[in-house]
Amino acid sequence: MFFRKSTTKSTAISFETFLSGTPARDYVLRDAPYAEQIERAAEMLRDADSVLLGAGAGMSAAAGAQYGGTFFEEQFGEFQKIYGKGPYMQDMYYAGFYPFPDQEAKWGLWSKLALTAGANLDVTPLHRTLLSALADKPLFLLSTNADHQFEKAGLPAQQIFATQGSYTRIQCSRGCHPKTYPAVHLFREMDAARQNGRIPSDMVPKCPVCGADMAMNLRVDNRFVEDAAWHEAERRFGAFLLGNLDRKLVLLELGVGFNTPTIIRFPFEKLVREHENVRLLRLNVGEGAAVPASFGNRALGIDADMAKSITDIVRTMNEA
Ligand SMILES: NC(=O)c1ccc[n+]([C@@H]2O[C@H](COP(=O)([O-])OP(=O)(O)OC[C@H]3O[C@@H](n4cnc5c(N)ncnc54)[C@H](O)[C@@H]3O)[C@@H](O)[C@H]2O)c1
Ligand SMILES: [Zn+2]
Repeated sequence: MFFRKSTTKSTAISFETFLSGTPARDYVLRDAPYAEQIERAAEMLRDADSVLLGAGAGMSAAAGAQYGGTFFEEQFGEFQKIYGKGPYMQDMYYAGFYPFPDQEAKWGLWSKLALTAGANLDVTPLHRTLLSALADKPLFLLSTNADHQFEKAGLPAQQIFATQGSYTRIQCSRGCHPKTYPAVHLFREMDAARQNGRIPSDMVPKCPVCGADMAMNLRVDNRFVEDAAWHEAERRFGAFLLGNLDRKLVLLELGVGFNTPTIIRFPFEKLVREHENVRLLRLNVGEGAAVPASFGNRALGIDADMAKSITDIVRTMNEA
């Protein structure tokens, strides 16, 4: 049998299984040998009429993006000295949520964080490898990543819907008007001018409409601004999906976990449930790679570091 029932997830209801609507007992982890799964994945992709990529934080992580550990100590040590390590200052993601005393301090850290996680980040070799294997297919990317790595790797912006915002743009903190503003040049100026973790007061950006403070254009609450470009990407995404739902569409899920599973993970499962010709290829590690058994051969979850699984799938595709 290709699948085996997951032994660690019993019939108990957890938050994750409650959210997903798929009974926990229906989730299965792989049973077949790794090489066999890679073969099947390559075949699934070769056979596809079109591919919808769904990328989460795990894709950037597998490609080499670092957020915590010694990387954070080296890059953000000056902020650890000021604020202590505490629960926030050990990781870029959590550091962003620090309750800064004022805007000068907030942008002191955020300008560096936004540059490090966004404009200055380049972990694209793995993304390029994947894109090279799918070059002849209609392709679209739904992503919760804000770091533009697929775009940097050459995927045209018109084929990307990044739902959670961008590390390169800012918006009104009140969300008073539906516009976002490019800010990499501001971040670079702030980064250069920072002293003791703070930027000069005259550099603090203000909303051109209401005068309030500005914020990153990242979805942290309901004030997140979905601007014209966001809505245009949403429209293109909808058109792609509608145009491909009746074809052999493969949903290739890349490192999507349970932080925001309602954006990619659960909708992908729903699409497979409702459309016979749609298939799911889920790349993740550990239990994140489980797929509903009821999908049979239409779903495959590969439990392996994507730096390896993606490379192996692409190599196998090219060998054929
Ligand atoms: N790069 C970014 O832009 C970034 C980074 C962190 C968080 N975020 C934000 O936070 C939220 C995160 O949600 P999410 O569901 O994407 O993340 P998540 O943290 O819930 O899940 C990441 C998943 O990737 C898997 N993974 C990690 N490393 C892997 C590897 N090497 N190989 C295979 N799988 C691997 C993990 O098992 C996990 O299931 C998003 O909504 C996003 O907006 C964005
Ligand atoms: Zn405003």
